Amino acid sequence: MKLVEFCKERGITVTAYSPLGSGDRPWAKPTDPKLLEDPKIVAIAEKVNRTPAQVVLNWSIRRGVAVIPKSVTESRILSNFQIFDFSLTDDDMLVLQSFDGGDKFRSCVLEWVSDHPLYPFHIPF
Ligand SMILES: NC(=O)c1ccc[n+]([C@@H]2O[C@H](COP(=O)([O-])OP(=O)(O)OC[C@H]3O[C@@H](n4cnc5c(N)ncnc54)[C@H](OP(=O)(O)O)[C@@H]3O)[C@@H](O)[C@H]2O)c1
Repeated sequence: MKLVEFCKERGITVTAYSPLGSGDRPWAKPTDPKLLEDPKIVAIAEKVNRTPAQVVLNWSIRRGVAVIPKSVTESRILSNFQIFDFSLTDDDMLVLQSFDGGDKFRSCVLEWVSDHPLYPFHIPF
């Protein structure tokens, strides 16, 4: 069972750290995927007349996952709140779900504790 569903069944709210892909994280490599520039996400954003950030945030809250996007840019902070007045289609949701990188990619890896018995990222999300 995926962690989000496991927690939902037990009344535990999951929070998405780095819900925009943390593009400015210090440990980003040039070859890492750039979530907000991905053509599939940009296409959905253009279709629903929203920003890529609004699309990925809407996807998370629709799954029942809380989001804590960070921005130092006032216009982005404001637009990141405008995510409760539109809906993605089920097909759009599936496209976003397909971005699950599993063990192949995570923005926050916490690799220095990856051998801890309670390290969370061995569990599918
Ligand atoms: N405690 C922990 O272990 C932990 C771990 C991870 C994250 N967090 C917290 O979670 C929060 C978010 O994490 P994060 O900063 O790693 O990642 P994030 O929110 O996924 O991404 C932040 C990046 O997205 C940009 N951004 C924000 N809104 C945007 C928009 N509408 N369009 C385009 N770009 C946009 C920001 O740029 P600008 O700022 O330049 O606008 C910044 O470069 C932070 O407060 C962080 O402290 C905590």
